[in-house]
Amino acid sequence: MKVRIDKDACIGCGLCEAECPKAFRMTDEGVAEEIQEKVPEGLEKDVESARDQCPVSAILTEEE
Ligand code: F3S
Repeated sequence: MKVRIDKDACIGCGLCEAECPKAFRMTDEGVAEEIQEKVPEGLEKDVESARDQCPVSAILTEEE
């Protein structure tokens, strides 16, 4: 699975980092970014959970 944050859509709520800090982090600009595009083994469920809860649907996933 691949994941990407749409930084133009992100409002910086911080939920994704709280939900899955191994996949997402907040930047100095106050928006989130993916730590790496390829989701590490075992983190898929947490990434999907964050994606489904993001208030502005800024977390985009793609199956490989
Ligand atoms: Fe931004 Fe959504 Fe995360 S608003 S900080 S991508 S939960």
